[in-house]
Amino acid sequence: MHKVKAKPKVLLTRKLHDFAIKEIQKKYRLEIHSGKIPMPKNLLQRKIADAVGLVCFPYDRIDRDVFDAARNLRVISTYSVGYDHIDLQAAKERKIAIGYTPDVLTDATADLTVALMLDVMRRVTEGDRLIRAGRWRTIFGAHDYVGVDLCGKTLGILGMGRIGRAVAKRVKPFGMNVIYHSRTPLSKSAEKRNGAKYVSMSRLVAESDVLSVHVPYSHQTHHLINKVTFAKMKSSSFLINTARGKIVNEYDLLTALKSKRIAGAALDVFECEPIGVKNNLTKMQNIVLAPHIGSSTEETRAKMAQLTVLNLVRGLEGKKMVYSVV
Ligand code: DGY
Repeated sequence: MHKVKAKPKVLLTRKLHDFAIKEIQKKYRLEIHSGKIPMPKNLLQRKIADAVGLVCFPYDRIDRDVFDAARNLRVISTYSVGYDHIDLQAAKERKIAIGYTPDVLTDATADLTVALMLDVMRRVTEGDRLIRAGRWRTIFGAHDYVGVDLCGKTLGILGMGRIGRAVAKRVKPFGMNVIYHSRTPLSKSAEKRNGAKYVSMSRLVAESDVLSVHVPYSHQTHHLINKVTFAKMKSSSFLINTARGKIVNEYDLLTALKSKRIAGAALDVFECEPIGVKNNLTKMQNIVLAPHIGSSTEETRAKMAQLTVLNLVRGLEGKKMVYSVV
């Protein structure tokens, strides 16, 4: 009897858009995890054993143990621009291709960075909290609910990649000066185009009125922003982080906020996500907290899904992915 060959399996650690699922199902048997998030490691190890492809998210830890269990794996496609959750060395050793989703989320993340900057500097959600708590007492006094102007302030961008450059472009109409520090400085013409000046890390920290973090997370950037950094920052300055939580030492940030060593902070990312009310940052007023929503717009998330699928399918067909890491 003629035996129908089963489609190879692709594992999704969480549901994607319907159009993306349909696209993958054309050629692959899809298994979608619908339980606890992130998928427990032992379950992931079990489910990945017979999969040729994996679609994962930034909170999934794809470490060496997972690679060891993935005997048939050829491609990982992560629904994120960050890929610090994947052991790249282990992937390289096994010749497993890694796809990721830069570019499509640049604008959304840069928009959120500016939104957080405006929020913390003009104390928008602080005021919202005040009203909701029934504590709005005085109206329009000279010193009531006073924030600071963006105009004339210096924005320091740490990491001048796609998102850093998009943030630089956005703050120009606000009248901000932009300085930056990056592993690789831009060319002189690109600096001109982006209206940004390269400075050393110590100058960036000392001269910024707003320091915005846009470097990827790695061993080198772990706790790059710490008590030494805060000690050098202006006491009137703000920290914005829409990159990765572990780049900032959260305990040192909390201390800096409590002691007013810096004026405020706005975070979209945290050392250990999700955070809850037990996290002492939630007790502070001079901080704006967002639940990792840098890329969270309808349009961007759909584009990310499209790119994730394209990377996966191309990778599995042995073709060049649109964006690949290794
Ligand atoms: C990414 O893509 O890495 C973001 O942090 C997820 O929104």
